[in-house]
Amino acid sequence: MMGQMLENPCYDVNLTYEENYRRGPFGRFAEILKRHDSRYSSDDEEHNGEARKVRVEQSSFMGFAVNKPFGIPAGPLLNSHFTDAAFRLGFDMCTYKTVRSRAWACNPFPNVLAIHPKTSTGFITAGSPEIKEGLLADTRYQEPLSISNSFGVPSQDPDVWQPDMQHAMQHAGFGQLLIPSFQGSRITGMSTAEYVQDHVIAAKLIMETGAKLVEMNTSCPNEGPGSLLCDNPDLVGEICEAVKDQIGDVPFMIKLAYIPDDSTLQHMLDVTVGRGSVQGIVAINTISARLVDSRGNQALPGVGRERSGVCGHAILQSGLDMVSRLDGIRKRSEYNFSIIGVGGVANADDYRNYRSRGADAVQAATAAIWNPNLAASL
Ligand SMILES: Cc1cc2nc3c(=O)[nH]c(=O)nc-3n(C[C@H](O)[C@H](O)[C@H](O)COP(=O)(O)O)c2cc1C
Repeated sequence: MMGQMLENPCYDVNLTYEENYRRGPFGRFAEILKRHDSRYSSDDEEHNGEARKVRVEQSSFMGFAVNKPFGIPAGPLLNSHFTDAAFRLGFDMCTYKTVRSRAWACNPFPNVLAIHPKTSTGFITAGSPEIKEGLLADTRYQEPLSISNSFGVPSQDPDVWQPDMQHAMQHAGFGQLLIPSFQGSRITGMSTAEYVQDHVIAAKLIMETGAKLVEMNTSCPNEGPGSLLCDNPDLVGEICEAVKDQIGDVPFMIKLAYIPDDSTLQHMLDVTVGRGSVQGIVAINTISARLVDSRGNQALPGVGRERSGVCGHAILQSGLDMVSRLDGIRKRSEYNFSIIGVGGVANADDYRNYRSRGADAVQAATAAIWNPNLAASL
């Protein structure tokens, strides 16, 4: 059953990525930036009033004090204007959108469409027939909200993102955490050694901003259409060791896509957590699906865009399943790692559900774009 139409997102899906970067955020995110000149801080009643007035409840995530282990994952927060606003709205764990070692262009507009799965629950899984047959994609943004995003992980040049990331980090309030995210860039003709080294360079650039923890996206289709870096756990393991050598004692998290197979998931943890290079897992990223318009034609224009990543409500069950299985391995093994649960979180029940499955922290991308009150409502 379809709910109300959603409006005023902080990322305007009717504008290009570049316009959003330059003019965003929008809606309540923009209002809260305009309303306060001074920065959010623990003793500032006015700022805290936007979220929770008195913040007595403190949690800890990977050794960092956080008011509430909840926030926004890599993606919607394009730069420090977005992260400043998100912090003021009470999103206490905000990830700065994935950056690269070099400037990288965005896929052509449009980059976001609403998705309407046919299933009664609105969920899809990695094995759903609709993923191959085609999911209806259009511009009706309605609850329960699922969207697709097709950006190609654009990045500013490090000369631009480094000072901005530093600014974002320094303006996290009391009990708030800015998580920098990066990924490697696969250039045609690059050897595997060069590709590994590109990750190390990006991690080094992040460390220069004063980062206290680092997240690496392994769920990007760097290895050709429909093929993710995390489909190759051994390569992920090799990259993680090289990055860890670079960043030293700083806690290191990797972002994974949904991994359906238990033995592959175990292997992924063996070559990352098991080797001591990784201390946290963020899961899940989007689930790739074929997108069609109401006539059954390719929904997003251009070569190589038949498929796109689906997120929001549709992937809630998959995210919960992945977190349960990660926690199961954690309990059965001697591995000690933190889990950030991501995928389809839209309300307090979803937050609690992820926590009860073993997530040490939870983040919401799609729902937070359209609901600035999400953190305050938990
Ligand atoms: C607009 C948008 C951009 C995203 N960009 C990134 C990104 O740059 N790096 C990344 O690791 N994940 C990215 N993601 C994926 C999210 O971090 C998250 O894993 C996914 O959307 C599932 O969460 P959700 O169901 O709450 O949206 C993006 C998601 C959205 C909606």
